[in-house]
Amino acid sequence: MFQLENLIRENIKKLTPYSSARDEFSGEAKVFLDANENSLGSPLTKWYNRYPDPHQMAVKEKISVVKGISAEHIFLGNGSDECIDLLFRSFCEPGKDNVIICPPTYGMYEVSANINDIEIKKAPLLEDFQLDLIHIENLIDANTKLIWLCSPNNPTGNSLNRVDIEIILNNFKGIVIIDEAYINFAKQKSFQQELAEYPNLVVMQTFSKAWGLAGLRLGMAFASSAIIEVLNKVKPPYNINQATQELALKALEEVGQVNDMIKLLVDMREALAEVFLSMPTVEKVYPSDANFILVKIKEAKNIYMFLLTKGIVLRDRSNVKLCEDCLRITVGTEKENTILVEAMQEWYNQ
Ligand SMILES: Cc1ncc(COP(=O)(O)O)c(C=O)c1O
Repeated sequence: MFQLENLIRENIKKLTPYSSARDEFSGEAKVFLDANENSLGSPLTKWYNRYPDPHQMAVKEKISVVKGISAEHIFLGNGSDECIDLLFRSFCEPGKDNVIICPPTYGMYEVSANINDIEIKKAPLLEDFQLDLIHIENLIDANTKLIWLCSPNNPTGNSLNRVDIEIILNNFKGIVIIDEAYINFAKQKSFQQELAEYPNLVVMQTFSKAWGLAGLRLGMAFASSAIIEVLNKVKPPYNINQATQELALKALEEVGQVNDMIKLLVDMREALAEVFLSMPTVEKVYPSDANFILVKIKEAKNIYMFLLTKGIVLRDRSNVKLCEDCLRITVGTEKENTILVEAMQEWYNQ
């Protein structure tokens, strides 16, 4: 049986969270002399002299409408990266607990575990980049608190099999995190609809990819209200700044435009994949459910270096296990994709 109480760190259970100035009163106020802000404002703009809403209620309500998830099931972080760190800090006892990751995958799970002194156990993906369920099962012990899944996965681009994820959700007594940073580019549907069914599920999404707002730093975690309460207790009081909250609200009014952009990026992804597939030294272009493609190509490292001399930066994954000779290529603008393809022609002609 899943028991959240058994997973929360003892110090976090006992923690009295910081109570911000604005937490301690409710109702209308005209004069705010409670938070040691600069009441005169800034020479830059009068607008940002006040602390932002620590609970980001306006943004959450809007996300709630767009996503169909009620606000008490939503946590907002300073990028998904903050959500990742907070999950470690809330549920994993340093030097004692462990978590499972399935490489090759997004690097921050391991970095964040190392920062928090949490043991990492690895169940590498199989050759087809799917989960090795038996290996995962064998790694689980009494101190395994979290299993990190990334679907669609970075850097491989594929979605994980839904049934495999369900098997883990049904059998693991700890928390299963599904990082869906790239879900808007995928054919597969989000696990957010399954929140009611699985009390041990955390779904992470972000404004950095499909929404085109990586610079704002806004990540979302969807989970039971009990898990969200724990994350809220541990987060810094004003983790989402005022400018980000305002711009996110504006972006959330433009769902139609975002959907158009997603379609365009998916079309350009397929076109780019086709062009690379026709190149003489390309061994494989892996099917992608994300806004990038993973390309297996002879002399990957040399090509990476050659493109750098042309001012084009790809992600060299050729040293990563299971991604040998692979370059990860983000879908760019039409113009950027053309520049890349032309540079590849130069590589072949030299
Ligand atoms: C799988 C995955 N999760 C999370 C992130 C980071 O998201 P954010 O910008 O919201 O911190 C990335 C960024 O590349 C990613 O690939």
